[in-house]
Amino acid sequence: MSKVLILVGSARKGGNTDLLAQSFAQGAQAHHDVEIISVADVSVKPCTGCNACAAAPGCRCVQRDDMDKIYDSLSRADVLVLASPVYFYGVSAQLKAVIDHLHTPLRNAFKLKKLALLLVGEAI
Ligand SMILES: Cc1cc2nc3c(=O)[nH]c(=O)nc-3n(C[C@H](O)[C@H](O)[C@H](O)COP(=O)(O)O)c2cc1C
Repeated sequence: MSKVLILVGSARKGGNTDLLAQSFAQGAQAHHDVEIISVADVSVKPCTGCNACAAAPGCRCVQRDDMDKIYDSLSRADVLVLASPVYFYGVSAQLKAVIDHLHTPLRNAFKLKKLALLLVGEAI
């Protein structure tokens, strides 16, 4: 049994990304411990590029916001699933803000073994 963290990058609750993530979670829950965090429920400030995370405890961002909760979940997770709507050929701005906060800790602080990407587009 692995610990799976699904980060939902759509602010639209009940939208396509949310539904896809829930469906993925339903399947994964048969064999794994699954947690879902949606950007609709958290507030994460954009990365300022200060690089203070390199010297911070746990390589965490020095800005204090809901990223603390996401860092805690990531520190327990074996698998990270990023679910996002396609916005102009990229991920949503809210999810990008979270991803940018992983710049240093992804390499140095977490024990993630697998990464999956769930993308929802209208036309791609
Ligand atoms: C700002 C914005 C940009 C988008 N850019 C793209 C795009 O580049 N390619 C695409 O296929 N769909 C694009 N879409 C459509 C969304 O990816 C699509 O509607 C998606 O299902 C929305 O996810 P949601 O239901 O979770 O909100 C865009 C939508 C928005 C609001």
